[in-house]
Amino acid sequence: MPEQPSHEYLLQLAQEFGTPLYVYHIEKIAEQYQKLKTAFQKSDVVFFYACKALTNVNILKYFKFLGTNIDCSSINEVKLALYSGFQSSEILYTANGISFSEIEEAQGLGVNINIDSLSNLEKFGKRFGHSYPVGIRLRPDIMAGGNLKISTGHNKSKFGIPVAQAGKILELVNRHDLVVRTLHIHTGSDIDDAEIFIKGIEVLFEIIPGFKDLQSIDLGGGFKVPYKMGDKEIDIQRLAEKIFETFTNYEKTNGRQFRIWFEPGKFLVSQCGYFITQVNVLKETEATTFAGVNSGFNHLIRPMFYDAYHHIENISNTGGEKRKYSVVGNICETDTFAWERTLSEVREGDYLVFHNAGAYGFEMSSNYNSRLKPAEVLIIDGKAQLIRKREEFSDLLRNQVITDFL
Ligand code: LLP
Repeated sequence: MPEQPSHEYLLQLAQEFGTPLYVYHIEKIAEQYQKLKTAFQKSDVVFFYACKALTNVNILKYFKFLGTNIDCSSINEVKLALYSGFQSSEILYTANGISFSEIEEAQGLGVNINIDSLSNLEKFGKRFGHSYPVGIRLRPDIMAGGNLKISTGHNKSKFGIPVAQAGKILELVNRHDLVVRTLHIHTGSDIDDAEIFIKGIEVLFEIIPGFKDLQSIDLGGGFKVPYKMGDKEIDIQRLAEKIFETFTNYEKTNGRQFRIWFEPGKFLVSQCGYFITQVNVLKETEATTFAGVNSGFNHLIRPMFYDAYHHIENISNTGGEKRKYSVVGNICETDTFAWERTLSEVREGDYLVFHNAGAYGFEMSSNYNSRLKPAEVLIIDGKAQLIRKREEFSDLLRNQVITDFL
């Protein structure tokens, strides 16, 4: 098990590269991947890293090196995956609500495609018919995931083709002689209960008989990782046992065997990431003591957007007396990272680190308030390397077209 970077080391990186700063510890990614591989070794499983969690190409290249496949949610992610060395056959494109021209582009690049609407399936059938195999994303009508914003399989979700429309799917498949290789579901993120996956599989088993060319069942991502002390990680070992049992029983009864696909994002990269900020201002009020840092939800949106909890530590005063602080950002609207959180005494200039910042941290950052995006650093073999430069003022103007209308 790789040792976590120490407080002193993170502090050193903050001083060397400046803050705010994203730091990724690469050996942690390998450890998480190894956990998955070991747990699922009895089953025929392929892992596609859901790269929307973190797309720095150095990270993508590392996944290629580890031997995973890759799941993409936009055509640009597909292009980043190709750029990072993945073969077309190792790339899966699972998008939603996209124009058919993007599907044509993906087909032209030769990647695996999961289609998520009847409308695009019909266009696909007319254009490619039998000539290009395809996957179909279904909506299994299962409520799962840490909160409603990241629940994607329930009966009000925009994702996938409702399973109740399976008859219509089959009509299109037969009309256009489509080769359906994969059925896909992804019910949500932060799933801590193995049973949810089994429920999803059972929904798929109901409709599988109509799909004669099926080779793989894609169960998406969503494995929960701990964010808080005492939080539990999904029991991967138990999940793997249950999946093995469920598919073995199906094979015995129905004589059909499938390869299982997963698309983990958070599980692979959440815990490798640290986001380091520096305290600009302390403000005592009757309600709380604010520790205002040199960042905001423009850099780490998860607390404001999902009420997500990120463990925070004061790495420049670890021995300080414990006190409660509300850690806030510098964006010109309510921008709270944590309310009344116990931290070692915070002084202006101290460095606060946010844990679990690898997944959907930098990736969801923006330039709101015309703030610059942070730098990214990778720790590999105990050495730190810059993998994305901090933005500069000129980056804000780069794509603006200055007209002389005045
Ligand atoms: N596959 C599909 C089709 C997905 O839509 C997602 C995530 C994944 C796989 C990977 O899910 P994961 O293993 O990372 O939970 N920004 C939110 C999470 C949104 C997830 C979107 N889809 C957050 O920060 O919690």
